[in-house]
Parts: sequence; structure tokens; C-alpha cells
Amino acid sequence: MAKSHLFILLCFLLNSVSSQTTVDEPTMQALKSHLNLTKDVDWSNPNPCKWPTVECSNNRVTRIQLNNKAIRGTLPSNLQTLTELTVLEFFMNQISGPIPDLSGLTRLQTLNLHDNLFDSVPKNLFSGMVSLQEAYLEYNPFSPWEIPESLKEATSLQKLSLTGCNLTGKIPDFFSSQTLPSLTSLQLSQNLLQGELPPSFGASSLQKLYLNGQKLNGSVSLLQNMTSLIELDLQGNAFSGPIPDLSGLEALSLFNVRENQLTGLVPPSLTGLKSLKTVNLTNNCFQGPTPEFGKSVAVDVIAKTNRFCLETPGAPCDPRVDTLLSVAESLGYPVKLATSWKGNDPCDGWLGITCSGSNVTVVNLGRQGLTGTISPSFAKIASLETINLSNNNLTGTIPNELTTLPKLKTLDVSNNDIYGGVPKFGDGVAVVTSGNANINKDGPLSPDGGGGGGSKKSSSVKIIAPVVGGVVVAALCLVGLGVCLYKKRRARPAKVQSPNSHVVVHPHHSGDGDAIKLSVAASSVGGSSNSQTPNSEIHVVESGNLVISIQVLRSVTNNFSEENILGKGGFGTVYRGELHDGTKIAVKRMEPSAVSDKGLEEFKSEITVLTKMRHRHLVALLGYCLDGNEKLLVYEYMPQGTLSQHLFHWKEEERKPLDWTRRLAIALDVARGVEYLHTLAHQSFIHRDLKPSNILLGDDMRAKVSDFGLVRLAPEGKYSIETRVAGTFGYLAPEYAVTGRVTTKVDIFSLGVILMELITGRKALDVTQPEDSVHLVTWFRRVAASKDKDKDAFKNAIDPNINLDEETLASVQIVWDLAGHCCAREPINRPDMGHIVNVLSSLTVQWKPSEADPDDLYGIDYDVPLPQAVKKWQASEGLSQTMDDSGSSSSAYGSRDNTQTSIPIRPSGFAASFTSVDGR
Ligand SMILES: *[C@@H]1O[C@H](CO)[C@@H](O)[C@H](O)[C@H]1NC(C)=O
Ligand SMILES: *[C@@H]1O[C@H](CO)[C@@H](O)[C@H](O)[C@H]1NC(C)=O
Ligand SMILES: *[C@@H]1O[C@H](CO)[C@@H](O)[C@H](O)[C@H]1NC(C)=O
Ligand SMILES: *[C@@H]1O[C@H](CO)[C@@H](O)[C@H](O)[C@H]1NC(C)=O
Ligand SMILES: *[C@@H]1O[C@H](CO)[C@@H](O)[C@H](O)[C@H]1NC(C)=O
Ligand SMILES: *[C@@H]1O[C@H](CO)[C@@H](O)[C@H](O)[C@H]1NC(C)=O
Ligand SMILES: *[C@@H]1O[C@H](CO)[C@@H](O)[C@H](O)[C@H]1NC(C)=O
Repeated sequence: MAKSHLFILLCFLLNSVSSQTTVDEPTMQALKSHLNLTKDVDWSNPNPCKWPTVECSNNRVTRIQLNNKAIRGTLPSNLQTLTELTVLEFFMNQISGPIPDLSGLTRLQTLNLHDNLFDSVPKNLFSGMVSLQEAYLEYNPFSPWEIPESLKEATSLQKLSLTGCNLTGKIPDFFSSQTLPSLTSLQLSQNLLQGELPPSFGASSLQKLYLNGQKLNGSVSLLQNMTSLIELDLQGNAFSGPIPDLSGLEALSLFNVRENQLTGLVPPSLTGLKSLKTVNLTNNCFQGPTPEFGKSVAVDVIAKTNRFCLETPGAPCDPRVDTLLSVAESLGYPVKLATSWKGNDPCDGWLGITCSGSNVTVVNLGRQGLTGTISPSFAKIASLETINLSNNNLTGTIPNELTTLPKLKTLDVSNNDIYGGVPKFGDGVAVVTSGNANINKDGPLSPDGGGGGGSKKSSSVKIIAPVVGGVVVAALCLVGLGVCLYKKRRARPAKVQSPNSHVVVHPHHSGDGDAIKLSVAASSVGGSSNSQTPNSEIHVVESGNLVISIQVLRSVTNNFSEENILGKGGFGTVYRGELHDGTKIAVKRMEPSAVSDKGLEEFKSEITVLTKMRHRHLVALLGYCLDGNEKLLVYEYMPQGTLSQHLFHWKEEERKPLDWTRRLAIALDVARGVEYLHTLAHQSFIHRDLKPSNILLGDDMRAKVSDFGLVRLAPEGKYSIETRVAGTFGYLAPEYAVTGRVTTKVDIFSLGVILMELITGRKALDVTQPEDSVHLVTWFRRVAASKDKDKDAFKNAIDPNINLDEETLASVQIVWDLAGHCCAREPINRPDMGHIVNVLSSLTVQWKPSEADPDDLYGIDYDVPLPQAVKKWQASEGLSQTMDDSGSSSSAYGSRDNTQTSIPIRPSGFAASFTSVDGR
């Protein structure tokens, strides 16, 4: 009896197990039978969700991670049915056969199949994989294939590795941040790719680009625009032409161009990059002085394998060499000249050069297949008698400067594509211009359509043939970013040219550890620094923190001039600062009363914590300054100002109203930034002062949250009651306003209010409204309550500037509900930030396919999950590269909306307005 009971019980249990088994079971069984599993993988349980290395959620398989287990076999063709898969990993096994069709796995985030024996790839790989963040297929013996067009569809992609995959053809041209906005790492090394770099690289946000070991060629000029780059490896290709100006690549750490055919000077914009750690230049055709890098840079530049004038790093070339190199520059530094023009004496057999003694008398470069323009630098070779540039493909005009050559007898530019007027040469100079179809006419590049004369032309020459000059390296920029500096200690002073200052960076050993000092000549910077004695040393960066001196901040903000004010807020005034290279920063000068008298140490430690909080959606704190009563914080500059400008003041500022997609994207950015604050491992941060004037926008209209953590610096109690509460009343959670009790739900409430503002286009507190509608939350709840009865009330509440099609309306409806939920009266009824992120991101993703306007791409968020975001920030110690001044003196960093400060509100009445209205 007892036994049979037990049996029934067992049957019952087994039954209940199998009845719970996943709908993915057949596919998983197929997978199991295709793979020759080793005995340490026990997939015997009838329910695949119980298999080790398999994870399910809601009875659907979400993860399969079967790595490094010496597994053979193949993959079944129906893996595609595992539609809830987020992670699919089989790396480092010996699985063979084709990679099956995985298109349409819309939730797949990680696809990791590297180091196997797969032999082919489906044509539509990546198709529909809108969640895919990382794909690693490197080292598989695929038969030759091309990078598929369908890669474009993987719009969340962050990392792609196709190293050693037998890729052929060209690199397609869809890597701009418009198309693949999150892609930061692209590894295509060791393939058979050919052709030139696609232009879209120049508009990408790539941080790591590995293209070494294939047949790529052409110019590398677009590197100039790849300002996010940290690691670049182009080794072993056939790239040619010069290295462009790299001064914008402020995070560049690895620069490997070994074994190419690059020519020209190694620019100071490369040698001056403070972030550099490793440089490989060996086996190219570089010319000019052997470059000299900082001591901390590991340099691989075997001088002999290039075409430098002298082997000693930094030794200047003979002036004749410099001049001829600037002639070569106008010709794009052709490889042909680079191979011949080596050493420090042009009279030592250089191609096309004839000398009399040590004077260059003839430059004969006819029929060399030259392109480019005629350099005005010819005029510096006073001994020149003959210039022959005939039978090339030169364009541009004949520079006026050439008329100054005292000994010139012959100038032959026949059979090119020279245009414009011929300057007046002295008597006895033979100028041959035949065979130039456009000579004495405007050339194809002429900006004006009228008949141009010689002198007019000469000005266009200046544009076409850039003058070689000291490229400015942002010395002061490094000050703001001091972190980079002290990692790069130099034993010898390194001179950095700046347009109006002369800055010497050198290491300095002081009692309290390593430090770097800047010497700034007195004439260098405006404002108060005039009082500095010449070469007085300004203490800039102390090891281990981010201290920036008051002198530096004075000089970059023009002595805190009115004109530099970006805004005023409860914590102080924010100034725009401009570093010497034009990089802008924002300097917040704290109101003495806004900061408590906490000990300096405590202030410092708070700030140190804040500087570590780096996230794509938080405005980065770059450093600070304490000097007597002065407390200053240095932030990245956000060129597009505050959300409130765009939401409430767009008309005055002659902007377009934000469309719904963009509003959603901004909301999601904010939610992500705050989610990061709320979920920091050691210490959860509560912002407490979220509002549109604290939400700043970059040129890409992506949002970042500012002023986080500042409340903690405020004197206890004072901040919330007296200083700031009035300014932010409309956003305050009732329990906070009444009791001062702070939990993360306070931020949820504020975000709810911001969502309401985004939906309605109305301010949290709007005194222009009738009395019962002044307070947005109250009004919103009333409309929400009547919404079901009165459909129009809901529609009428939506900002008329939002273009309402059906789809938008549905989306607004969801955010409307979310906003109400966030502003629930009881904190416990409000969702957490993770939920908000989920809701908003589902809307932005779902939005994507119907998108027509490319501008709307910003509406999709492809942000990285939190842990990766933290890692990324840590890796990059990122700095904002944003430049343009929006020109608006009222923008950002403080609040223009402090008009609200003056609204007289009785706190008791305010609290009542919350308690009297029920949540929805
Ligand atoms: C599967 O593995 C076993 C043991 O290693 C081996 O004997 C067998 O041949 C393998 N089968 C296949 C199809 O690889
Ligand atoms: C690339 O494809 C060719 C042709 O199928 C093949 O012979 C070669 O082994 C492949 N290379 C690699 C590295 O798999
Ligand atoms: C680059 O290589 C391709 C062939 O791979 C060739 O057709 C093209 O002319 C080359 N371009 C340059 C700039 O050398
Ligand atoms: C760099 O970007 C600017 C602005 O987008 C563009 O005009 C320029 O052509 C780009 N330069 C290169 C070399 O791609
Ligand atoms: C690049 O240069 C560094 C520093 O000299 C060196 O350690 C490294 O091996 C070089 N890399 C290659 C691929 O040559
Ligand atoms: C070189 O040129 C300079 C100035 O033009 C002249 O003084 C000198 O005599 C010349 N030397 C020779 C060897 O022609
Ligand atoms: C240079 O000019 C020659 C002759 O006009 C022409 O055949 C050739 O295609 C041109 N080459 C280039 C690179 O423009």
C-alpha cells in the first residue's frame, strides 16, 4: 500500500515536471543529438531548463553557454525557434558544419562562436537581431564570405569580432554612428579584405579598430574624424599618404601602422597625444624629423625602415629638406618621392633635384604621375632656376609667391589641370602653361562663377595648399584632464606649441609625491594671469586626485567674466571655459552658502566619489578646485543646453520643438543615468533634484543628468528646506517635501513629473495657468481620472507640438500611464528605475522599424547594460569631445527655470495639494 502510494506520488511528480517542460524542448533535444557531448556535460534531464549551462525564464530557453568543452558535432538548423534566447555561446569547441540561420532572434544579445570549426555563415546573419550587442565569430575556417549587408540591422551592436574569418571584398560603408550607434569595437584583422577605409568610419563612434594583416589601401585621412578611438591597428596593409591631424583623438592609446606605405611627417598632433601608450611606425616611408614621443610611450619606429632626415629623435632637418617636404605635402607626399627623398641632403641624389654646390637650382618632376597642387613653398628656395612640373595631374593655380624667386628662368607646368590666371613673372622667366584646359579660366573648384583674375586666385591657393605650421596641441586641455597627464611622466621637458602661449610640461618631484607643473609664460593667457610673473609655475595636477588650480580656471573662463556665464543655479554660477585648443568645459563656482562647512577632507572625498561616477548619461565631473573660500567644479561641456530650453523655451531660442521619438529617447537616457546612480554597488546615490534644467543635451541630442551628488554637499537640512526647495517644488515627492525622508522613490517621482512635462509640454509649476491647473501633477491626475470617460481630455492634454499619429498616440498612452505610476502618492506604489528603463526602452526599440526620418535615429537607444557601461567608462576615463557653443547665454548648468524660485508657495498648502488628490 505504502509503496503504491509512493509510486503514484512519484508519477505525479514526474508528470508535473514534464508538464512544465519548455516549448523549446524539441529544439533543445535536436541540439543535444547534433552535438557529441563530452561526459562532463550532463544533459540527461528530460527538462532542458534543468540542464547545466542552459538557463530559462518563464519556461523559455534564454541562455545556452557551452564553452570550452571539446565538443564536436554540428548545430541543428532550427535553433531559430528559440526566440527568447539572449545568450548563445559555444566558443572554443570543435563544432563543425554551417552556422545555422539565426535571423530573427530579436532578443539575442550575445552570439559567441569563436574558435570552432564552422565552415560557413548564413547569408542573412545578423538579420533582425536588433538586440545583439556582442558577436564573436573569430577563428573559424569559413569558406570565403563578405561582411553581410544585414549587419546593418544589428543596431544595438557594440562589439564585433570577425578576426581570421576568411572575409573577402570591401569593408561596407555603414559604420557611422547613425547606423550602428553603439558599435565601439570592430575587429576584422587577418582576413582578405581589400579596398579603402569606408567614409562612414569617420562618422563612427568606434573606440577599437583592428584591421591589421590584409590588403587594405588608400588614405588614412579620415582617422582625423575618429575622435573616439582608443586602439587602432592597421599593421600590414598598403595604406599610403600622410597621417592626418590627430589632435582630436584625445583617448588614443595604441597607434599601430607598422608595415604600410605611409609618407609625410609624423605630425606633432600624434607625438603630442598624452593618452598614447604604444606607437608602431616601423616599415613605412615617413619623412622629416624622426619623431620624439614621451618617455612613457612604447615606440616602435626603426628609423632605418623609414625615410627620416636624421636618426636622432627630435633632431630638426636641414631647412632645404623642410622646404622640399612642404612642396611634397602639396602633392600628397607621393610614395615615389618618399622612397627617394631620404636623408638630410637634397643634393645627395634626390629624385628630380639638381644642385649647384649645396644650392638647389632645379626641381624637375615632370611625368611623375603627380597629383595635388603647386606649393607656394617653392618660393623659399631662392637659388631655384628651373621648376618643371609638366605632364602630371596637378590642379589648383600657380601661386603668386613664385614670382619672387630671384633666379627663376623656367617654370613649366604644361599638360596638367592648372586653372586661373598666370601671375606676372619678371622679364626673362619662361612660363609654360600649355595643355591646361582651364588656364586663365576659373577652375572646377572655383567658388565664384565669375571670371577670376590672378590676384583673386592667389587667395584660393592659400586654401588649397595649406601652409605647414606648428600644429597646436592642447596643452591646457590636458590640465583639465589632468588624469591623463600624470600617467605620462616625462623625464625631459617636452615643448608644446600653443598659439599664444608657450607651455612646458615636465615632471616635478615634490614632497607629497609626483606632481606635474605647467609653466605658462605671462603673455600667454588673458585675464588675471597677467599678474603672473613670467614662467611662474602653476600647480596643476596633484597625483591621485583631480585638483585644478584657480589660476587655470580663472584664465580659461576669462577671469569668470559675465560673458562666460552659462547659467545660474542653486549651487552657484556656471561658466564656460575654453581651453587652448578650443575645447570647452563648464566650471561651476559654488555659492559659499551652498556648501556646508564640512571639513575639506570630506568635501574632497565626496568629490572624488563623484568623479568616479562615469556613465554615458551622467555629465562627467572632470576635476575641482579648492582655494580659500572658492570651491569650483569642472564638468564636461554640453553644447545643446538644458532640456528645459528645448521643451519650454524652444520658440525664443528659435529651435524646433522636440518630436516624440526624441522625447522618449531623452526620458530613457535620464532613466538610465539615474538607474546607474541608484544601483551603484557600494553606495546608492539619490539625485533628489531631477528636473529639466538639470538634464543637459549633447550635440547628438542625447541627454545626460547633471548636478547629481551635489545635494550631499549642502549643509544638513538647509538645502531641502531653504535654499532650493522652492526652485524645484513641482518635482518634489510629497513625503520628501513634508518629512524630508529620502529614498530612491523621490527620484522616481521627479522623473514621473518630467515624463508629464514631456507629454504635455507644460512646466511642473506654471503660474500662467488657471489656479487649479498650476500644479502639473495635480492637473495631470485630474485628466487621468477623467480620461476613460472623455477621450478628448487625454488628447487635449498632449503637447500640440507632438505629431500624433496612431502609433505615437499608443506610445504616449503608455508613457502617460508610466508617469502616473511614478507619481503615485505612496512611495511604495512607485516603480523602480529598472522598470522605467524597461518600459521606455521597449517603446524606443519597437519604434525603430517604422522610422522614416533619419534624424529620428536618436530616438532609439542602444545603450549598454550597466556593468559594461561602468567598464567602458573606466577604460576610457572618457572626456567629452563636444565643441560647438550653442551661443545661448542662458543655457545649461544652472537653471533658467529658477523663475520658479520666486513663486510664493506655502509649504503646507503644497503638501495638501498632494494629499488631497488620490493616486490613479
Ligand atoms: C563522439 O565521441 C566519441 C567519444 O569521443 C567518439 O568515439 C565518437 O566517434 C564521436 N562521434 C562523433 C560523431 O564525432
Ligand atoms: C579560406 O578559404 C579558402 C578557400 O575555401 C580555404 O582554402 C582556406 O583554408 C580558408 N582559410 C581559412 C583561414 O580558413
Ligand atoms: C587599392 O587596391 C585596389 C585593388 O585591391 C585597387 O584597385 C585600387 O586602385 C587601390 N587604390 C589605391 C588608392 O591604391
Ligand atoms: C571630417 O568630418 C567633417 C565634418 O563632418 C567632414 O566635413 C570632413 O570631410 C571629414 N574629414 C574626413 C577626412 O573624413
Ligand atoms: C609595437 O611597438 C611596441 C613598442 O615598441 C612593441 O612592444 C610591440 O611588439 C610592437 N608591435 C608590433 C606588432 O610590432
Ligand atoms: C648658394 O646661394 C647663396 C645665396 O643665393 C649664394 O650666396 C652662394 O654663393 C650659392 N652657392 C653656390 C655654391 O652657388
Ligand atoms: C592623369 O592624367 C592622365 C593624362 O591626362 C590620365 O590618363 C590619367 O587618368 C590621370 N590620372 C589620374 C590619377 O587622374
